[in-house]
Amino acid sequence: MLTTPPLSLYVHLPWCVRKCPYCDFNSHEGRGALPFAAYVDALLADLDHDLPLVWGRTVQTVFFGGGTPSLFPPEAIDRFLQAASARLRFAPGCEITLETNPGTAEHGRFELYRAAGVNRLSFGIQSFDDGCLKRLGRIHDSGEAEAAVKLAQDAGYDNFNLDLMYALPEQTLAMAERDLERAFALQPTHVSHYQLTLEPNTVFAARPPQGIPDDDGAWDMQEHCQALLAAHGYAQYEVSAYARPDRRCAHNVNYWRYGDYLGIGAGAHGKITLGAEQTVLRRWKIKHPTQYLVHAGSAQAIGGDDRIEPARRPFEFMLNALRLVDGFALADFEARTGLDRAAIAAPLATAVAEGWLEHDGQRVRPTDLGRRYTNNVVSLFLDD
Ligand SMILES: C[S@@+](CC[C@H](N)C(=O)[O-])C[C@H]1O[C@@H](n2cnc3c(N)ncnc32)[C@H](O)[C@@H]1O
Ligand code: SF4
Repeated sequence: MLTTPPLSLYVHLPWCVRKCPYCDFNSHEGRGALPFAAYVDALLADLDHDLPLVWGRTVQTVFFGGGTPSLFPPEAIDRFLQAASARLRFAPGCEITLETNPGTAEHGRFELYRAAGVNRLSFGIQSFDDGCLKRLGRIHDSGEAEAAVKLAQDAGYDNFNLDLMYALPEQTLAMAERDLERAFALQPTHVSHYQLTLEPNTVFAARPPQGIPDDDGAWDMQEHCQALLAAHGYAQYEVSAYARPDRRCAHNVNYWRYGDYLGIGAGAHGKITLGAEQTVLRRWKIKHPTQYLVHAGSAQAIGGDDRIEPARRPFEFMLNALRLVDGFALADFEARTGLDRAAIAAPLATAVAEGWLEHDGQRVRPTDLGRRYTNNVVSLFLDD
């Protein structure tokens, strides 16, 4: 039996000051005055359209992602949250995160985001090295990044994440470690540490920059940085995520545990367990903000619906759950896929024999080796 898991709400805000050359997110350079109020109207129409999928359920976390959500004025975020919480029950202490580009921080903004209910920020820092920031095409320098975080702290934010990337053009191991040291000085509760990837259809993929560390160099950085993070009290809990005790990102953890989420906004993806139909629905919205603004709230804003057949669920589940250092409980596998654990007995045994996974009858965890070869492990669970 499929049982409904915790529910999150993802809200996509699609504009940026400038498109970064490595970025393949659904983000668009905003020219002229942006239609913030109309976009909030569209989000609410989109939410109303999706509400029947989640009647009676409680939202555990909200995440404003982008794009650059911090381009939106606090009044727009406030209006959205007030209207959303009138339509959906928000759990007490609901984690509400807003992604912030340090280049958009303005005095007084963070107080108002906080008053609107945003209780966690995620800063796109990328690096504290001005040369690296320039090569990445960022709109801020390291001084502005530190100043933005300090403004947020002055506004009372003590729960925030810093996004850093490593294996950057012309970056050495010492530079990657210095980035972390400067991050630690700001006392974040969470650090996301991503290896730069060259994504198809980006400027970097078309014209790769000079001096990107090779695989061994990147691996070396990852290992050293992981040790440095651990030494400063940031435990790795997912491939790229490190947190102080009790400060994991509840929203992302819900994704990785194959929880449910409504996705609203241009190009947003959602995944919802439909108990009555005993199926898992994936739904995504059309990507382009201009068209989204016109169609939100109608069937034309739906980019697609996909009902995940039982045979595909083990692969989907593993793709997420095996990113987590703690792995997953077999009972959760059963509740969230609607399948008996016997359905994965054979690939599980193979992965254990390879030394990729370990399990004690209750929980399954990836080993260090398994975390290095995640793709191989996950592919064992493909339906063929
Ligand atoms: C959607 S972005 C949101 C943050 C915000 N838009 C910004 O860039 O300041 C989330 C994070 O993904 C990471 N990211 C984006 N593109 C990446 C890439 N090609 N390789 C690795 N990490 C990437 C960056 O660290 C970025 O901060
Ligand atoms: S600011 Fe963030 S979302 Fe926007 S283009 Fe740059 S990396 Fe992508």
